[in-house]
Amino acid sequence: MKITVIGTGYVGLVSGTCFAEIGHDVTCVDIVKEKVEMLQGGKSPIYEPGLEELLKRNIKDERLHFSQNYESIASSKCIFLAVGTPSTDEGKADLKYLEAAGVEVAKNLSEDAIVVIKSTVPVGTNKWLKDIIAKNTSKRFHMVNNPEFLKEGSAVEDFMRPDRVIIGHEEDEVAQVMEELYAPLVKQGNPILFMSNLSAEMSKYAANCFLATKISFINEIARLCDSTGADINEVRKGISTDKRIGPHFLYPGPGYGGSCFPKDVKALLYTAKEHGQELEIVEATERVNDAQKTYILNKISRYFNNDLKGKVISFWGVAFKANTDDIRETSAIYLAKELISKGAKVYFYDPVAANNFMSFMKDDNIKSFSNKYDCLNGSDALVTMTEWREFSFPDFSEIKQRLNNPVIFDSRNLFDTQKVLMEGFDYFAIGKFIPQSLNKMAHTDSESFVRN
Ligand code: UDX
Repeated sequence: MKITVIGTGYVGLVSGTCFAEIGHDVTCVDIVKEKVEMLQGGKSPIYEPGLEELLKRNIKDERLHFSQNYESIASSKCIFLAVGTPSTDEGKADLKYLEAAGVEVAKNLSEDAIVVIKSTVPVGTNKWLKDIIAKNTSKRFHMVNNPEFLKEGSAVEDFMRPDRVIIGHEEDEVAQVMEELYAPLVKQGNPILFMSNLSAEMSKYAANCFLATKISFINEIARLCDSTGADINEVRKGISTDKRIGPHFLYPGPGYGGSCFPKDVKALLYTAKEHGQELEIVEATERVNDAQKTYILNKISRYFNNDLKGKVISFWGVAFKANTDDIRETSAIYLAKELISKGAKVYFYDPVAANNFMSFMKDDNIKSFSNKYDCLNGSDALVTMTEWREFSFPDFSEIKQRLNNPVIFDSRNLFDTQKVLMEGFDYFAIGKFIPQSLNKMAHTDSESFVRN
């Protein structure tokens, strides 16, 4: 099938490349010249495991093309819109890129083409875009909403093996075309769910907000573990073995970040407000996450007797999660800003996100290192911010030797408590039980409790 994908961000680029990989003839369109040229040369502008290999193969096999113009739309059966829908200041999803793409699509459409919205868009957007396109074309066309659920860092795998495919549509013939398009990806029996466009739009926000809520829930329980002496790892196992709860998305950390959860939570709250409704749970999810981004700061401040002036704090990882170079809404931004405002400097190491972080922060108080141990030289504390695999089993004696001060603040709960304490570190984490008799300086929230 001939496909055009508009927008080569995470969703557009991965979708287009994977559609080519399963045999479709795909043209990806983007307005940014440098990006298109880079992609034509088989180089990915984003770090995503496995993507560049697929890019190169499908370009070579002439199933995947990149272009700055919209000509390919005229010969495409399906046109996927995967442009960004960022938050405005009020938290509303900004649809200006979608509108501009819709007008270009309308000008080039062929009869009976299917326009598929893949961007995450508020309920009602499909109808809104249909009207815009209709005003700019005399051709008959069809609208579909097909939200994408891929995760950064495992995007190719997620796209190729989706838990489900959601297709919002109006006509049965259109459903058939979409079924044919996705057939190779659902061979294992994972369902294609057909529904109204409104339900498809809502499903995407409901899924992301529910997942964000799970994270805020476990972060709040982790804080309570800190205050009571319960251990979040034990508690997580205790609850996740209940089939109704399940094991996923119950890892406490420095708060969720990335390009989706923060923006989608805001956008759903905005939609609710527009309908005169309050979404109390989603509101609380956002509030809890805002506090979580700097939760570890209180532990750091207390440890240094509320005096961070002149201290150097080293971060391991700045990406919003492992396996990505994306730093959008990463908690490392918020923690670094807070530390710097209190007079500290931030050193950091990240295997792939360093350049993005440096160019976003533009702050002389931040220094990037190309080795995880080098970034500890002359530093007063180590803080883990991203769960990169290479941080899982570090050489603790090397860490101790490099740091001015043997203290670790583990905001991803990466390390084995006993091991860290036996090495002679002071150790602080998120909701983990840490025997204070072994911490040289007992400074946790639950300072004085003794576990029986
Ligand atoms: C998310 C959705 O998972 C995906 O379906 C949607 O298409 C886009 O948004 P993504 O933003 O790539 O994907 O990352 P995800 O793996 O969901 O993690 C989001 C944030 O939550 C990260 O900051 C991560 O560190 C955090 N997280 C995740 C936790 O803190 N604890 C968990 O248990 C899981």
